[in-house]
Amino acid sequence: MTAAMSRTQVGIVGAGPAGLLLGRLLTLQGIDCVIVENRGRSYVEARQRAGVIEHRIADLLRSAGVGARLDRLGLVHNGIYLQFDGSRHHLDFKDLTGRTVTVYAQTEIVKDLLATELPVSFDVTDTRVDPSGSVLSYVDADGRPHEVTCDIIAGCDGFHGISRAAVPGRTEWQRDFPYAWLGILADVPPSTDELIYANHPHGFALHSLRSPTVSRLYLQVPPDEPLSAWPHERIWDELATRFALPGWTLRRGPITDVSITPMRVFVTTPMRHGRLFLAGDSAHIVPPTGAKGLNLALADAALLAEGITEFIRHSRPDLLDAYSDSRQEHVWRAVHFAVWMTEMLHTAPDPFAAELQRSQLRYVASSRAMATSLAENYTGY
Ligand code: FAD
Ligand code: DHB
Repeated sequence: MTAAMSRTQVGIVGAGPAGLLLGRLLTLQGIDCVIVENRGRSYVEARQRAGVIEHRIADLLRSAGVGARLDRLGLVHNGIYLQFDGSRHHLDFKDLTGRTVTVYAQTEIVKDLLATELPVSFDVTDTRVDPSGSVLSYVDADGRPHEVTCDIIAGCDGFHGISRAAVPGRTEWQRDFPYAWLGILADVPPSTDELIYANHPHGFALHSLRSPTVSRLYLQVPPDEPLSAWPHERIWDELATRFALPGWTLRRGPITDVSITPMRVFVTTPMRHGRLFLAGDSAHIVPPTGAKGLNLALADAALLAEGITEFIRHSRPDLLDAYSDSRQEHVWRAVHFAVWMTEMLHTAPDPFAAELQRSQLRYVASSRAMATSLAENYTGY
């Protein structure tokens, strides 16, 4: 079949948070775009992932006109709890930095953006970006091939996407941690008012939430752990053990979703080749312990939208030229913070490292300077 030929100003690969926000911000500026996504809409809307939004990212979503449900359903948290050695310590971000975070699921952000009726083609296959970054080709859900000529292409197709490979001569950094996260969604009211990050001899555990009736929990598990090793009863028993505290009980309820996420750092640079730009997880993955991945992806999209607008509207390339370096600076701050949180809270590799880890935890829990550093990074530096 001959390919249908068309033209657009910006071709966007991937309808995750980065691709959708970029599409939304460009649409608000009157810039044409096409978004192609290789999964179906219901899959994209239901994919369970992040839940913590930095203060400034919440403002960004409001300025993109998708803040109404966030303001109605998002839960503003003033801090977190750190638990280790059998006690729980509260870090008050509001007091330490004047800032808060909002707990609002990534699934809801994706739904809010899709509700703005962006031009997304779902269920495409064979997505390709030509080396010059000006032709995006794909086969649509009905099997029809398309070739779209674009002024700019944005690779927002996540870690497993195809765009990154079209940046020649790139430098990549990768570190895999020797553990994974078991993510659990449960129809049970949260047993905590704010997130609990727990370090326990059995491994790390995180108690997060989605709403007053839905809990989101995570357990450190060995890498390559089969889901079958975790029947629901075992999950609840292990969570109860890792969060145990005298006088406190973990509420149990029906588990509705379980998934496993490997823990890794991945960074590629530059985030640009010619007219092709990378944004979000296609360019960087941080371990989820610092709650940074979604925030970085949305911040990439915002800066890219600004750069593209300046370029297309006023022929000014300066912002686009500075995009990769500017974002790399933020990415590496997030990488450092996420690795620091990860290594402080997960099982230490040897007894010496375990002693350093406990000393670090005690220091964060008792020093205002250390707690402020954590708070500043967590709420968005
Ligand atoms: P993605 O969400 O991966 O979207 C990429 C899209 O591109 C997908 O829809 C994919 O289907 C599509 N695609 C891929 N290949 C192709 C192709 N060839 N053609 C067309 N489309 C394609 N971050 C935080 O900030 N806070 C948190 O609390 C947090 N917690 C997390 C917890 C877990 C368990 C996990 C897994 C992640 C967490 N993150 C968190 C990270 C966050 O979810 C990601 O950083 C975020 O999804 C990145 O968005 P993205 O749009 O760049 O990529
Ligand atoms: C959530 C995920 C995280 O990785 C994190 O650090 C905090 C919260 C969540 O899904 O709610």
